[in-house]
Amino acid sequence: MLSPNPLSLFCAVLLCFPLALVLTISSTSTTLFTPFVSCRLGAFLSPPPPPPLSPPPPPPLSPPLPPPSPLPRPISKPPKTLPKNANSSPLTNTTTLKQPVIKQLPPPPPPPPPVSEDDKDDVDLLRRASRVNPEPTKGHPKKVAFLFMTTTPLSFSSLWELFFNQSGARGKGQYNIYIHTDPRLQYDPPFSGVFEGRVIPSSKPTRRNTPTLIIAARRLLSHALLDDPDNYMFVLLSGSCIPLHSFNFTYTTLVSSNKSFIEILNNETTAWGRWTARGETVMLPEVSFNDFRIGSQFWAISRRHARVVVKDVKLWRKFRLPCVTAGTCFPEENYFPTLLSMVDPQGVIPTTLTNVNWRGRHDGHPRTYNSSEVDPGLIRWLRESRPRYGSLTINGSDLSVMDRWDPFLFARKFAPNCVEPLLSIAKDVLFKD
Ligand SMILES: *[C@@H]1O[C@H](CO)[C@@H](O)[C@H](O)[C@H]1NC(C)=O
Ligand SMILES: *[C@@H]1O[C@H](CO)[C@@H](O)[C@H](O)[C@H]1NC(C)=O
Ligand SMILES: *[C@@H]1O[C@H](CO)[C@@H](O)[C@H](O)[C@H]1NC(C)=O
Ligand SMILES: *[C@@H]1O[C@H](CO)[C@@H](O)[C@H](O)[C@H]1NC(C)=O
Ligand SMILES: *[C@@H]1O[C@H](CO)[C@@H](O)[C@H](O)[C@H]1NC(C)=O
Ligand SMILES: *[C@@H]1O[C@H](CO)[C@@H](O)[C@H](O)[C@H]1NC(C)=O
Ligand SMILES: *[C@@H]1O[C@H](CO)[C@@H](O)[C@H](O)[C@H]1NC(C)=O
Repeated sequence: MLSPNPLSLFCAVLLCFPLALVLTISSTSTTLFTPFVSCRLGAFLSPPPPPPLSPPPPPPLSPPLPPPSPLPRPISKPPKTLPKNANSSPLTNTTTLKQPVIKQLPPPPPPPPPVSEDDKDDVDLLRRASRVNPEPTKGHPKKVAFLFMTTTPLSFSSLWELFFNQSGARGKGQYNIYIHTDPRLQYDPPFSGVFEGRVIPSSKPTRRNTPTLIIAARRLLSHALLDDPDNYMFVLLSGSCIPLHSFNFTYTTLVSSNKSFIEILNNETTAWGRWTARGETVMLPEVSFNDFRIGSQFWAISRRHARVVVKDVKLWRKFRLPCVTAGTCFPEENYFPTLLSMVDPQGVIPTTLTNVNWRGRHDGHPRTYNSSEVDPGLIRWLRESRPRYGSLTINGSDLSVMDRWDPFLFARKFAPNCVEPLLSIAKDVLFKD
């Protein structure tokens, strides 16, 4: 920034006080002074320097924050069915992008209750899902299940729709979408296009730093396992994630692997605090400190492993316990890597394919890219970085992954106002491999 100008200040205000604002979409056509226009203008006034071409530093790993905006409005009762968007504009023409309108946010809904005991519906769902065939149907094309966990409308739905549409008519048989939302909120605009009707019916409220994030992912996996026997890889994404490659590249990379991609880190400096977060020895005997692992919440796991996760009762009983120590409780970053490294360490590539930038961050939230930072250079940098691999030492032999360089397929976190600059480079950069 050469000097602060009113436009960039406005953008900064938008990004800094997301909780005070709600952005909803109005159907009015372009007005001159909108968050978008001003941020894009900011980009012209002060182009950001190209990002350095070196991999991001190891993540301190803390849980994701929902994207800053737009926040959905709380409602008193969960809607039976989410309303259909009458005119589900799939945004092929970016100049007609609907502009967000800022409204006052009513008080947030009360936090969800702690997971003290399992909900009966969840127990039934998981039990049914744990009986599915762990092998994909022979002779059928494999499918990728995209699991979106969000508490806000999907800011990048138009980008994702472009991504999925590349698969063409044939591609309809290559993927499925499942969405976990907060049922107390009304999503405006509602999920439409490829997202219409994809919210799983058993969604329940979630909350940062609690096991509600684990159970939400287990619900998504259960529905996806039961819904389609051809679902082969299960990718967890948040509302602030974007694709980094074409659909074909993403699909081919995922279905050609018979191993899960899940970050599994051992001996991190924060490990002891995380292991004792529920009480000094509470995790024993099921999860010894030596078995305890840490990794990104965002993974892509195989059908076999999805079934392992929904079938698990033993570890879940420990990980669902409430933390007694604040600041070290990130259950969703511990449960999945610990479980899979205990059950099938040889069936995983110990890394995440979702790029995140922790450089210079100490507040527990990764860097959120804003619209003025989105350009082809950023996308190339995010793609070309080498993922961080955990080491896999099994029975004394080190199954080194040092020679691997798997491609990042997704990246986070992007502010909602990045959608327009991302759409503008989608065809020529994002989806060009
Ligand atoms: C975008 O992020 C960059 C880097 O953090 C910052 O310098 C810039 O002021 C931000 N722009 C806006 C519009 O918030
Ligand atoms: C996009 O929409 C604008 C405004 O409605 C229109 O002027 C323009 O021709 C459209 N462009 C395309 C490619 O359809
Ligand atoms: C995606 O494909 C559907 C069906 O062909 C079409 O209606 C929609 O406009 C497309 N969306 C985008 C963003 O291109
Ligand atoms: C899809 O991607 C794979 C691997 O990246 C490539 O070999 C294949 O030619 C691509 N197919 C199409 C239709 O682009
Ligand atoms: C996974 O694939 C590799 C080669 O791609 C093969 O050698 C191995 O047997 C496969 N493992 C399983 C469990 O299918
Ligand atoms: C664990 O980390 C510490 C310091 O980071 C290091 O000294 C120690 O050798 C590591 N232990 C193992 C088993 O890798
Ligand atoms: C490690 O060794 C134990 C005891 O010999 C054996 O039961 C177990 O299957 C081994 N694990 C792996 C992954 O090879």
